Amino acid sequence: MAKYVVGSAWPYVQSVPHLGNMIGSVLSADVYARYLRMKGHDVVFVSGSDMHGTPIEVEAIQLGVDPRDYAMRMHAIVAELFKRWNISFDIYTHTHSDTHIKFVQDFFMKIYENGYVFIREDELPYCPNDKIFLPDRFIIGKCPYCGYERARGDQCERCGRLLEPRLLVEPRCAICGAKPEWRRTKHWYLDLPKIEEEVKRYVESNNELPPNAREMALGILREGLKPRAITRDNKWGIPAPFPGAEGKTIYVWFEAVLGYISAVKEYFEKRGQPDKWREFWLDPSTKAVFFVGKDNIPFHVIILPALIMANRGGYTTRLTTSSTEYLNYEGDKFSKSRRWGIWIDEALKLLPVDYWRFVLIYIRPENRDVDFTWASAVEAINKVLNDDIGNFAHRVLSFIKSRFGGVLPAPGLSTPSDEEFAKTVAERVKSAESHFEKIELKDALMDAVEIAREGNRYLNQRAPWQLIKERPEEAATVMYNSYAALKALAVLLYPVIPSSIEKLWSMMGLSQPITWADAAKAPEPGTKLGDVEPLFKKVEKKELDAMLEELKRMREERWSKKYPWEQVVLD
Ligand code: MF3
Ligand code: ZN
Repeated sequence: MAKYVVGSAWPYVQSVPHLGNMIGSVLSADVYARYLRMKGHDVVFVSGSDMHGTPIEVEAIQLGVDPRDYAMRMHAIVAELFKRWNISFDIYTHTHSDTHIKFVQDFFMKIYENGYVFIREDELPYCPNDKIFLPDRFIIGKCPYCGYERARGDQCERCGRLLEPRLLVEPRCAICGAKPEWRRTKHWYLDLPKIEEEVKRYVESNNELPPNAREMALGILREGLKPRAITRDNKWGIPAPFPGAEGKTIYVWFEAVLGYISAVKEYFEKRGQPDKWREFWLDPSTKAVFFVGKDNIPFHVIILPALIMANRGGYTTRLTTSSTEYLNYEGDKFSKSRRWGIWIDEALKLLPVDYWRFVLIYIRPENRDVDFTWASAVEAINKVLNDDIGNFAHRVLSFIKSRFGGVLPAPGLSTPSDEEFAKTVAERVKSAESHFEKIELKDALMDAVEIAREGNRYLNQRAPWQLIKERPEEAATVMYNSYAALKALAVLLYPVIPSSIEKLWSMMGLSQPITWADAAKAPEPGTKLGDVEPLFKKVEKKELDAMLEELKRMREERWSKKYPWEQVVLD
């Protein structure tokens, strides 16, 4: 058994996450973490709210509130929502925790002492109206690489390139729109060129990176790493620890990525084992796996490894990143300003959480951008979740209930088609396992769906309701095999729809916990079923219409409030 740190990108909490954020990070990470635990690995699954940085500051300035109060308030909301989404975090903390702040400061002092930090005076953009420097998201302009009009000072959202304010074409202040002045100021820089070779070796030798991460990272390395400022003049952030840097804070990205380490520390501190985090992070065999949307690739595949290497603290470098493409909503990007998309609190008011979890993994954008449409979501729920999976479960269990007194029969005579079916199921379990290992979550889910489809075909073909009249021995075999298939199916689906599968598991008369080994284990004849009822139900046309109405109503209410993001979740 191996040790794993599973991390999902830490959401900025200027707003509630939307479905695109969910599939890119938190939900995908949860499915993977649950899979690893079922396999018996030692897993710590961490994340937290990304509290600092310009997104929060811009939002708080616009609301006229203190960034700290706003971030704390939003953190509580987001943490609660993730619970309702059944995310099995071992810890969901935030980047303003004492443990994180102290850890980050010590970590950077070590990098400084190791000679990877230098000071440089530079001309940086300054807004004459707002009287602040304009780093990162405080400044927007045209991307010099792809021409995107609203690129930010640190990164272009469209092409994903890392930027500097200087590179923006026609830059302007994100708060008031004014043209910036350029003023001299001093900053502490991370000497990325000095660590470039090591980072390159790490990327080139990492054969677990998905193609999008690998290509983007190699592209960045081909152009050569440039020094990047660690410090900022923002007030809201972690105070920079360098001598002479009083009043400056650390660039949000450089500290947030260290949360994957500090959160493990905090998790064990809270359990009264303050040194145990070292057994994870300081063991070179520990694997750390991060789940992110593609815009996060440079920070996870270049910056975090670079920081770890420059720190020279003996941290594991078995880091990998599972990066998804974007999820769009009905043909267009999710957008808070255009109010386009579905946010994760609204979603829960419309459909049960497992329906969302299922749909999102079913359409997970693994190879290209994917469009969420209501039509395709309803189809996935009605045809796949309900008809394929739900019906198979119900057919098997209700037949055993009514014809075998609710007790699983021992298998009798087997025909070649029974053996064929059992073999197909076993192959699907193997295939799902290999997809989970490669973090191909959607393909793993498809293996489960195929078991259900095969199962329905098997029942149709073997027609146990006929067999039971003439050859009850064979009917028993068919039901035993179907039950075994259902059990395998349940195991494969558990990471995706845990609460439905727990229900199914007890209908099947089985006891928890559910482990991966259960998929291949032969069921015990004589197992007594629990109460059987349908697991899912279809979304009818008029229910869909009602949902869309409700979504509209929630939106109107939300946007009439001063704190829009508290509106839906806390009622
Ligand atoms: N807050 C960032 C975003 O939403 C993600 C930060 S991931 C971390 O894009 F690891 F750096 F925290
Ligand atoms: Zn661009």
